[in-house]
Amino acid sequence: MSMRTHYCGLTTEALLDQTVSLCGWVHRRRDHGGVIFIDLRDREGLVQIVCNPEEAEVFKNAEVVRNEFCLRITGVVRNRPDGTVNNNLNSGKIEVLAHTLEVLNASVTPPFQLDDDNLSETTRLTHRVLDLRRPQMQNNLRLRYKVTMEVRKFLDANGFIDIETPMLTKSTPEGARDYLVPSRVNAGHFFALPQSPQLFKQLLMVANFDRYYQIVKCFRDEDLRADRQPEFTQIDCETSFMSEQEIRDMFEGMIRLVFKNALDIDLPNPFPVMDFATAMALYGSDKPDMRVKLEFTDLTEVMKDVDFKVFAGAANMENGRVVGLRVPGGAAMPRSEIDAYTQFVAIYGARGLAYIKVNEKAKGRDGLQSPIVKNLHDAALTQILVQTGAEDGDLIFFGADKAKIVNDAIGALRVKIGHSEFGKKVGLFDDTWRPLWVVDFPMFEYDEAGDRWSACHHPFTAPKDGHEDYLETDPGKCIAKAYDMVLNGWELGGGSIRIHRAEVQSKVFRALKIDAEEAQLKFGFLLDALQYGAPPHGGLAFGLDRIVTMMTGAESIRDVIAFPKTQRAQCLLTQAPSAVEEKQLKELHIRLRAPEAKVVS
Ligand code: AMO
Ligand code: AMP
Repeated sequence: MSMRTHYCGLTTEALLDQTVSLCGWVHRRRDHGGVIFIDLRDREGLVQIVCNPEEAEVFKNAEVVRNEFCLRITGVVRNRPDGTVNNNLNSGKIEVLAHTLEVLNASVTPPFQLDDDNLSETTRLTHRVLDLRRPQMQNNLRLRYKVTMEVRKFLDANGFIDIETPMLTKSTPEGARDYLVPSRVNAGHFFALPQSPQLFKQLLMVANFDRYYQIVKCFRDEDLRADRQPEFTQIDCETSFMSEQEIRDMFEGMIRLVFKNALDIDLPNPFPVMDFATAMALYGSDKPDMRVKLEFTDLTEVMKDVDFKVFAGAANMENGRVVGLRVPGGAAMPRSEIDAYTQFVAIYGARGLAYIKVNEKAKGRDGLQSPIVKNLHDAALTQILVQTGAEDGDLIFFGADKAKIVNDAIGALRVKIGHSEFGKKVGLFDDTWRPLWVVDFPMFEYDEAGDRWSACHHPFTAPKDGHEDYLETDPGKCIAKAYDMVLNGWELGGGSIRIHRAEVQSKVFRALKIDAEEAQLKFGFLLDALQYGAPPHGGLAFGLDRIVTMMTGAESIRDVIAFPKTQRAQCLLTQAPSAVEEKQLKELHIRLRAPEAKVVS
C-alpha cells in the first residue's frame, strides 16, 4: 500500500468499507475511556480516527500521541453512529477505524492551540510554521496561488510573456528608499534591490517584446502599514502600441476574470472612471472607498467672509480648504460619538471638528444646534444647507485647514462613519465590491520641504496630449496619462502611458530639476534606448498581496504572505535582519559607524 492513499479531508462516504492509508497531524485527541478518538488533519481538512482497545498495538500508540504529532494510519472507512454526524466537516459522515497507527514523528507541546482565534501577531509570526498549519492560513495561501494561476492564464492567453528582470540592479525612482546591497568585487559600490521593474520593462518594449509580464518581488524601504511590506509582490505588466483606454480595458478584464474564477464574484462591467480632481473634491482621497455613501461639500467660497476665524482663515489661506460632510440621520449621534470623532481626526492633524445638527430647518438658525452657528451669518448658513442638501435630522461635520489636512482628516472620517455601526444601520455603507479607475492624475506635486516639483507617479509617465508645454510653463497644471485601479478604498494597482521620446523625457527631468548630467548618470541607459525608435508603450502593476488580502477579508497583507516582516521590518521567525561578522564586512569594504548615542527622552 502506498504511504498515503487519500487526503484526510477528502475521505468521505464515497470510500465506505474501503481500507485507506492517511497521513497528517493530530488536531485533537479525545480519550473516552474505552476508545481514543483522533482528529487527523492534513491540507484538505480533518477526519475522525477511532482507536479501539481491541487493536492493542494501535491503542498503545494512540495513548502516547499528543497534538501535532505526525501520524500515518491505515484503517477502514465506516459510517459514524447515528447522532454523531458532523455536518461542518467534509468527512463528517464517516470515521476511520484504525488498524495500524504509526507515529512518523512526535511533536513537542505546541506554544498555542492551533484553533485559538485570539493569538497575538507576535506569537503567530514567531511560530509561523505552526501558524501556517491553521486552516485560515492554508486557505489564504491557496487562494493566492489560485489568483496567480488565473493571472498567468489570462496574460498568456493575451500574448503576454513572463520575462525575469534583475534583482541586483540600479536605483529606480518609485519614491521610496532603496534597499542597498554592497558589492564585494567593486569596492564602495552598491546595487539597489528594485522598487519595481519599471525601467527594465520599458527597455523590453524598446526591445520588441511587445507584451511583458512578471509576478515579481519589489523592495521598498518605507514606513510600513497594514497594506505595505518592505518586500511585496507585483503583477507587473507592460505593452507597446496600446492606448490608455485599451490598457485599462484589458486589465480591468483581467481583474474581473480573476474575481470570477477565484471567488465567483461578478465585479461591475465596466468599472466606473473618475478623474483625480473629482475624487479629491468629493472624497479627499485618490483611492475613495465607494461603498461609503457620504460626500464632501466644498464650502471654501462660502466661508471667506464669516466671523468664525477658523473657517475664514482656512478659506482665505493659500492651499486652504473648508468642507462640510453631511451625515444623513446624524443628528441622533450622541455627543460622546462626536467627541470620539474629534479625537479621531486629530490623528490626521485636524485641530477640531465643528458640526451642525439640523433639527428643524424651517426654524432657521434656531432650528440648528451647534457650537459655531453664532459665528456664521445667515447667508452662510443658508448656503451650507442648500449646498449640502441637509434635511431635518442630519448632521454636518466641518473641516477647515490646509487642503491636505482637511482631505486626510475628513476623508478618513468619511470612511470611519461609513464603516461604523451607526453608518451601517442608517444605510451609509453598501457592503459589496466597488472598483473604480482614478485617472488624470497631475504630473507633479509640489514638495514644500524641498521647494521643488516631484513626480506623482514616476518620472517616466507621459503628459496628457496638449499638456507638454506646461512642463516648462506651469508644471502644476500638467496632467499625466496615469491611472490607478481602486477597490473598496485600496489602491490595487497603478500605471501610466510612458514617455517614448527622449526629448520629452528630458523636459520632464528638467521640470524635476534633474539636470542633464544627473539624468545621464542615473537613467542614461533609458535615454539611450529611447533614441532607437522606442515604440509608444505603457502598462501598470498590481499589488498581488493587496488583491489577495481583499479577497480573503484579512486585515493585513501579512496574512497572505507566508513569511512576512513585522511593522518594524523584521522577520520574527529567522530574526533577520541580524548583525554580521566583521570578516564579512571587511570583504565588503564596509566599516560600521559607532552606534549613535542613545537619546534619553
Ligand atoms: P506603484 O508604486 O503604484 O507603481 O506600485 C504598484 C502597486 O504595488 C502595490 N504596492 C505595494 N504593496 C505592498 N507593499 C508595498 N510597500 C507596496 N507598494 C506598492 C500597490 C500599488 O498599486 N512601476 C509602477 C507601475 C507602473 O507604472 O507600471 C509601480 O511600481 O498595490
Ligand atoms: P473653538 O472656537 O476653538 O471652540 O471651536 C469651535 C468648534 O470648531 C469646535 O467644535 C471645534 O472642534 C471646531 N474646530 C476648531 N478648529 C477646527 C478646524 N480646523 N476644522 C474644523 N473644526 C474646527
